[in-house]
Amino acid sequence: MVNKIETKLLHVDKNVEDNKSCVHIVDAARLIRAGEVVAFPTETVYGLGANALSDEAVGKIYQAKGRPSDNPLIVHIGEMSQLALVARDVSDDAQRLIDAFWPGPLTLILPSTSAVAKLVTAGLPTVGVRMPDHPVALELIRQANVPIAAPSANLSGRPSPTSAEHVRKDLAGKIAAILDGGQTGVGVESTVIDMTVYPALILRPGGVTYEQIKSVLGQVEMDPAFLVDAETSPRSPGMKYAHYAPKGELWLVSGETAAVRRKMEELLLQAKRSGLRTGVLATAESASLWSGKPFVDAVLPCGSSSDLAAVARDLYATLRAFDDLQIQFIVSETFPRTDMGLAVMNRLEKAAAGRILSV
Ligand code: TXA
Ligand code: MG
Repeated sequence: MVNKIETKLLHVDKNVEDNKSCVHIVDAARLIRAGEVVAFPTETVYGLGANALSDEAVGKIYQAKGRPSDNPLIVHIGEMSQLALVARDVSDDAQRLIDAFWPGPLTLILPSTSAVAKLVTAGLPTVGVRMPDHPVALELIRQANVPIAAPSANLSGRPSPTSAEHVRKDLAGKIAAILDGGQTGVGVESTVIDMTVYPALILRPGGVTYEQIKSVLGQVEMDPAFLVDAETSPRSPGMKYAHYAPKGELWLVSGETAAVRRKMEELLLQAKRSGLRTGVLATAESASLWSGKPFVDAVLPCGSSSDLAAVARDLYATLRAFDDLQIQFIVSETFPRTDMGLAVMNRLEKAAAGRILSV
């Protein structure tokens, strides 16, 4: 049992030009240097940061999140000079991606140096590194003057946090401070790409798209582990480890629009009949179709089907909102796996833990 600690809530204005003088960033950087854990905004989701060079500090991250310690963490750097401290053998291809996308939502897997805390890499010879594109995150790292290891600042298994309020709900009483820099922008996590193999291999789709990476490297592959064939379904529930999940049971329905709507309605009616509170994860286009239906308790719009980046931005907040409304059964249509749609579908599939129907 972890003792409850007081969590400081520190507001920062991310639009303020001169973050150097922000007392709250100074305060948070001091906590990082003292070996404490601080949540901070990035352009993707909120991170839960600690000194990446200290096993003792990083241990507190795993403890606060309840995260299995065999899942390695991403190291965040604030300036290019910090890269050599944590990673070796930066290939020409890796350098090309750095030039094109840093600061930004792209994590490179590179050979690690011995300075990186063992708990960060979970014993692997490699380390994931990125430079976040967020003024508050960058200033925090610079002032802490150490690279910061940070997973997403949610309890393990919950949707990642895109606001300080999400972090507070999951982690208040467990961490030293939360730097509140408002809503994050991209909404889903960084793309993780393994640069220690050739061709480079995307391990997790995210804020930098496959198409963007391909345009820089020419050749890049995707880990088959995250590619689900929409035609082979239903996939057996529980086959995959549930992640990013709302408390309610999420079902995805893919196929031709009219058939999808019919199937969604059938599932909702069934759930309602068995006494569950039901919800639809809708888009701007489909929301009006579902609102007012007696078998739907909550219709939550999440972006637009013509703007996949907007779906990504709203996704985690929408999944969490279903929890706040005590929705027990949720259905969603699927999205094209192009551009940001690849990351959106990956997160939805994990949240649905295999409950995918194609009609
Ligand atoms: O956008 C993001 O990436 C956010 C913000 C806070 O930066 N962070 C984040 O961290 O999503 P986390 O811990 O939730 O996800 C890290 C991912 C995991 O899938 C982990 O397995 C992978 O990166 N990873 C980290 N180091 C790795 C390594 N050495 N080899 C392979 N995968 C690694
Ligand atoms: Mg995470």
